[in-house]
Amino acid sequence: MRHLLDTRTLTRADALRILDVAEDMADTQQREVKKLPTLRGKTVVNLFFEDSTRTRISFEAAAKRLSADVINFSAKGSSVSKGESLQDTAQTLQAMGADAVVIRHGASGAPRTLATSGWITAGVVNAGDGTHEHPTQALLDAFTIRKRRFGADSRGQGLDGVKVTIVGDVLHSRVARSNVWLLTTLGARVTLVAPPTLVPQDVSAWPVEIVYDLDDAIAAEPDALMMLRIQLERMNAAYFPTEREYSRRWGLDARRLEALPPASIVMHPGPMNRGLEISAEAADSARSTVLEQVANGVSVRMAALYLLLAGAERDTDTTDASGK
Ligand code: CP
Repeated sequence: MRHLLDTRTLTRADALRILDVAEDMADTQQREVKKLPTLRGKTVVNLFFEDSTRTRISFEAAAKRLSADVINFSAKGSSVSKGESLQDTAQTLQAMGADAVVIRHGASGAPRTLATSGWITAGVVNAGDGTHEHPTQALLDAFTIRKRRFGADSRGQGLDGVKVTIVGDVLHSRVARSNVWLLTTLGARVTLVAPPTLVPQDVSAWPVEIVYDLDDAIAAEPDALMMLRIQLERMNAAYFPTEREYSRRWGLDARRLEALPPASIVMHPGPMNRGLEISAEAADSARSTVLEQVANGVSVRMAALYLLLAGAERDTDTTDASGK
């Protein structure tokens, strides 16, 4: 794997390979000594032009557990404020020895530009670009659903027939887009629930069903209910109901939580707006996988970095992903 830019172009075989390697990585995280020597001598640069808690720290933990060196770059406090371009910033960091660049950027398409412009030779991982995609979030979500549905060792298993309902601010959500492409590639049936003004205009071309009433969607008994963060900072001209109205009609409260089938899981990519799209009861309930998603994110990002930086060597080597 040269880059990881989106899930829309990821084949089922490639997606399963990442999820299966993530299972190997998760196994290594149960050991007393979690650190593997696999990426010793490699350097991973976290190039973040937007704020992040989970994704940036998770990539840092993943790289360090594979023994890579990590350089963290945040646009805040950098020479970006003096007008330095993406090209010059990336080339400056590559000159310091980057083998992989993990980039989060407010502009949709920035990771692809970095990967295809010829500015740098490092592998590029998209850590979220504008409203476009967030592929490792979708991979960790798929990993979480697969583990819950099929148990600890679900290697080789897709998500055929699994019902996933994604609720909320689909219009601004790169998480929703990456999940739609990945989950349907893996065979899941995806339903979107949103106020009509927060549904993207091109949604008729997506392989999903659209429902506007959350209670109807819950009555259809989803296996996983994924609540999205309301992105007030990106709302701009989009019409948004009052927070009270949104919460009443599209929020997951205690009553709706109770109406879900007993085996359904509740997901959220974080950060959560408690009391808006999800109540504290739902976020902290036994069926919430919010923190499990975070933990699984480290294994999935270890897999992505491993396949990016050691995958080609692995193909001609007998050493497996777990270092055995
Ligand atoms: N889910 C997610 O991308 O969270 P952060 O913005 O904290 O990285």
